[in-house]
Amino acid sequence: MTALTPTDRTPSARPFSHPRPNAALHCGAVSLETLAKKFGTPLYVYSAGQIVERLQMFQSAFAEREHLVCYAVKANSALAILKLLAEHGAGFDIVSGGELQRVLAAAPHAAGRVVFSGVGKSAAEIDLALNSEILSFNVESEAELDLLAARARKLRKKARFSIRVNPDVFAETHPYISTGLHEHKFGVSMKTAFAMYKRVAQNRWLDPHGISVHIGSQIASAAPFGAALDRVHTLVRQLERAGIAIHTIDAGGGLGIDYHARAFDPKKRVQSYARAINTALHGFNGRLLIEPGRFLVAQAGALLTRVVNVKRNGKKTFVITDAAMNDLIRPALYQAYHEIVPVKPRAGKPRTVDVVGPVCETGDFFARDRALGPIQPGDLLALLDAGAYGMAQSSNYNTRPRPAEVLVEGSKARLIRRRETIADLLATEIV
Ligand code: LLP
Repeated sequence: MTALTPTDRTPSARPFSHPRPNAALHCGAVSLETLAKKFGTPLYVYSAGQIVERLQMFQSAFAEREHLVCYAVKANSALAILKLLAEHGAGFDIVSGGELQRVLAAAPHAAGRVVFSGVGKSAAEIDLALNSEILSFNVESEAELDLLAARARKLRKKARFSIRVNPDVFAETHPYISTGLHEHKFGVSMKTAFAMYKRVAQNRWLDPHGISVHIGSQIASAAPFGAALDRVHTLVRQLERAGIAIHTIDAGGGLGIDYHARAFDPKKRVQSYARAINTALHGFNGRLLIEPGRFLVAQAGALLTRVVNVKRNGKKTFVITDAAMNDLIRPALYQAYHEIVPVKPRAGKPRTVDVVGPVCETGDFFARDRALGPIQPGDLLALLDAGAYGMAQSSNYNTRPRPAEVLVEGSKARLIRRRETIADLLATEIV
C-alpha cells in the first residue's frame, strides 16, 4: 500500500493526505492521530473547507443561469454541515418531516430554499412544510397531488409544486440507487404529468411552478443527465403550448464521485455535468434547481477506526476494527468500495487482508482481499470517501452506540456530535 500523498491525485479530490512520508494522515492541517486520541474511535471526520469548495464548484458552473443548489440532506444531515452549507447560499432537498426539522434547527432562514421530495409524504409532514413556507413540493403521484391540494386548502396556504417525472432514462449505477426507469417507484410518466398539470391548473391552492426529475445516484457520466433534461425540456414546451407556464426545473441530484480516486478531477466533472444540463435546457430561461448530496460531502469525510485485532483463519487474514457495518453500511449494502489508508503507514510488504468489524454477520466487512501495508492491533485506519451516506445510514445494530463526528475548519477541529452512550440507546425503552 503506497501512502497517500497530495501529488498522487488532484489536490481537491480528497482533503486527507500525509503531509510527509512518516507523518500521520491529516485532514487539512489536523492530524487524525490527534483527533483519535482526543475524541476516540470510531470517529467521523469532515473537512468544512472541502464541503464549501464543492458547493462553490456547482455555483460557479451554473453561474450563467438563475439557479439554486439544494443539498440533499439525506447524504449527511449533521446540523453543523447544514448550517455551513446554508451560510454559503445552499438550499436543501429533504425527504421527510424530520429532515425539515433539521434544516429549521440549523438554518431557520433557509426554509424558503427547501424542496420536499419523496414518494410517501404524510399529511403531517405536508402541513409542517406548508406552515414553514418551503420553496416547493416535488410531487410523486396523483394521490399525493390530491393530498397536497387538500392540506393547502385546509391551511389556506398556497402550495408551490413540481411534478417529479420519470424520464425512463437508464443511468449506469448500482440497481438499488437507480431511479429513472419506468419500473421504479419514483415519479410519474411524462404523459401522466401532463394530464396532472392540466387537471389542477385552475386549483387556487396549487401553484404548478416546476418540473422535477432525479434519475439515480453515483452516476459518473454526464450523458444520462442530458438525456433526462432533454425530455423534461420537451415537456416544458408542451405545457407552454397548453397554456401552463413552468418557471423552475429541478434536475435532481446523482452526480457520482470516483471512490477509487483514479485521475479524478471533481471540478471537471461538475463542469461537464453543467454543460450537459445547460445544452439540454438551452432556451429555458427559468430557474434551475439541482440536488447534489454525495458530491458535496462524500470525499470531505473519513471514518477513523482503530484496529482491535489481527486474526488469521487458515489462509485468510482478518483485520478487525472497532468500526462496523452499523457505522458504515455501504460495503455490506451496495458492495461499495472505500479506500482504506493506515493513518501511520508501517514499513514492510503489503499483505492481502479482509478488513472487518466486530458485528456478528459475515456481511460486516469494509474490504475483502485488499492489499494493505503491515497492520498491527492498535493501528489507526481511515476509511475514505465516507462523508456521504455513512453516518446518515448508521444504526445501533448489536447495541453499538453510533460514532462521534468532528468538523475540521482550517487548523481547528470541533466536535459536532458527541458519541452516543448506552444510556442514550436505552432511554426510549420501557421494561
Ligand atoms: N434528490 C433525490 C430525489 C434523491 O433521491 C437523492 C438520493 C438525491 C437528490 C441525492 O443524490 P446524490 O447526489 O447524493 O447521488 N445510500 C446510497 C445513495 C442513495 C441515494 C438516494 N437518493 C449510497 O450510499 O450510495
